[in-house]
Amino acid sequence: MKKTTIISLPNQKTERKRINKTNIFEEFSLDDSFFTLGKDKLYYIYTYGCQENEADSEKIMGMLNHMSYKRTMDVEKADVIVMNTCAIRKNAEDKVFGEIGRLKPLKRRNPNLITIICGCMSQEEVVVETILKKYQNVDIVVGTHNIHDIPLMLKRIYEGHTRIVNVLSHEGTIVESIPVIRESKIAAWVPIMYGCDEFCSYCIVPYTRGKERSRLPENIINEVKKLKEEGYKQVTLLGQNVNAYGKDFIDIKYDFADLLTDLHKIDIERIRFTTSNPKDFDSRQVDAMALGGNIMPQLHLPVQSGSNKVLRAMARRYTKEKYLDLVKEIKAKIPNVSLTTDIIVGFPGETDEDFNETLDLVKKVEYEGAFTFIFSPREGTPAAKLSDPLITDEIAHERLYKLNELVNEGYLKGNMRFLNTIQDVLIEGISKNNPDVLMGYNPNGKLVNVKGDKSLIGQIIKVKITDAKSWSLDGEAI
Ligand code: 5AD
Ligand code: SF4
Repeated sequence: MKKTTIISLPNQKTERKRINKTNIFEEFSLDDSFFTLGKDKLYYIYTYGCQENEADSEKIMGMLNHMSYKRTMDVEKADVIVMNTCAIRKNAEDKVFGEIGRLKPLKRRNPNLITIICGCMSQEEVVVETILKKYQNVDIVVGTHNIHDIPLMLKRIYEGHTRIVNVLSHEGTIVESIPVIRESKIAAWVPIMYGCDEFCSYCIVPYTRGKERSRLPENIINEVKKLKEEGYKQVTLLGQNVNAYGKDFIDIKYDFADLLTDLHKIDIERIRFTTSNPKDFDSRQVDAMALGGNIMPQLHLPVQSGSNKVLRAMARRYTKEKYLDLVKEIKAKIPNVSLTTDIIVGFPGETDEDFNETLDLVKKVEYEGAFTFIFSPREGTPAAKLSDPLITDEIAHERLYKLNELVNEGYLKGNMRFLNTIQDVLIEGISKNNPDVLMGYNPNGKLVNVKGDKSLIGQIIKVKITDAKSWSLDGEAI
């Protein structure tokens, strides 16, 4: 086995304790010795999981670019491979392990190849143990709290270290000014906070992403202003629970409602945000969202279950009734809103009755889309210790199927309501299925296909909707 330098290993128990209560703000910088390390070298990056990971990958690309590496879209040509991983469900992890395995021959062909594993999987003890034992082709393991250490770890490898593990477990650090290479020139991710303090009983994220910590308002506001100047048309504010933004500030009183209100004043065309937690979504925030204008009438509001018993077991800390009240208020104040959600089926203890309550809630809310999942036990979380022999694989799949049928009706209905209307569509690119067709989104986040010239990419144009399908709308530019 090759020699490993272990700077620090993940520890989910320490992570749970949240030793570090105050936020530490740092500015990223690299000295001159880093700038040419990647000269004539190529990197390939895999990004799995959520938008937070996409935003992190854009920072990793920014740092590598700063070190003179260039990106390749062909993994076989890479000198450095970065795998930004997701741990949310077991199948997400299986996919990553499968891919690391497939990369083994590349290392045999090119012993100088450096493979970096980062993202949420690196924060799990079992994953790091498995990598160290079974995946000799991995050179660097770095956690979610210190992606900014990647340049230094690469340097150490060039200096002769064979393998480095550096995963922190109780950090409250916010690092500003990391260079970013954005995938899009039109729509940008803007993380407003990191981590999560919810500890829903099924969820690994509070362990992998650490303590909830908010960026300072002025840094977010300045970033959005700068994006506007650079020509961006849309920002999506990111956080595991954006509604808890600012709760960790000690000496200032400023929350998500304040942030939305301030961003509303900037003349960037479109503002979206994700993900919301019903527990922290208060009336002031609904009012701020209802300002409208550049704040888009689209909301992803994960409910997870429609049964109070299951919600309690999930430690969601709201009831079905409270959720429905919130939906009522949102619909009253933002009549045109499109609501989507996340739902888990097969949570231990979920009976047919509980599941029927979920179906009932889906009907009541009239979601226009949903991500649906079968419960996946994650080691180290309280729910992983629960078991339910009554929920067989077959029953879980049956429930998922039934739920999806209902959800799919919602997708279609949600699209049908735009038939024959005129929509403002931000054209983001060319349709994947047809090179002659442009694709973009209306304010509600519906995918719209429209014939038109490529020069329209990046513009908001008026489109008459001529056809509505389950997954997209068709229209004509007017
Ligand atoms: N099993 C299944 N689904 C999960 N999610 C989070 N953790 C799990 C798990 N252990 C789902 C939730 C969450 C979405 C991002 O993933 O619905 O909102
Ligand atoms: Fe996956 Fe959650 Fe980590 Fe995002 S925060 S990468 S969804 S585990």
